[in-house]
Amino acid sequence: MTDEIAVEDLSNPKDLLILYGTETGNAEALADEAAEKANEMGFTTKISNMLDIELSALKSVVNLLVIVSTWGDGEPPDDALDLYESLDSDSAPLLSQLKYSVLALGDTSYEYFCRAGKDFDARLEKLGAKRIFDRRDCDVDFDDDFEEWSSGALKALSS
Ligand SMILES: Cc1cc2nc3c(=O)[nH]c(=O)nc-3n(C[C@H](O)[C@H](O)[C@H](O)COP(=O)(O)O)c2cc1C
Repeated sequence: MTDEIAVEDLSNPKDLLILYGTETGNAEALADEAAEKANEMGFTTKISNMLDIELSALKSVVNLLVIVSTWGDGEPPDDALDLYESLDSDSAPLLSQLKYSVLALGDTSYEYFCRAGKDFDARLEKLGAKRIFDRRDCDVDFDDDFEEWSSGALKALSS
């Protein structure tokens, strides 16, 4: 895992960016766990809060995992809002070089279950990014879903 490498330099097949959007830390903790797994599989991994990323920086990234929760009335976390909106703007770049998968955190007791994760997934696809493993929508007990999703997504990114 490395903090030194710039997002723009994550352009090799074994480079991986893990982006998280969180209010209370669940997505960040899972991003850390996913990075550990990825590093064991030989990836060079960078973890970033969505707050610290400009959409344009994703233009050269080849492998991306997104872990994001849903808040309010189906909203993304505050720190994820800028990226969420820029992915939907007319000036958003094409991301056809990007392979990705999304883990959506939520709670089935809310009307808009995992809506932010669903939107990130759809917006990345619309920009030409290739979903290499299906999004997993997680309820409050997310451990098993995380294990299955992270193993499957990392395997898919490796092949
Ligand atoms: C005030 C509040 C609002 C929430 N709103 C939603 C929602 O609209 N949809 C949903 O699926 N989950 C919702 N959740 C559940 C969170 O997404 C879930 O607890 C998640 O694991 C939090 O992850 P985080 O710590 O990374 O932010 C809400 C939780 C709280 C406390």
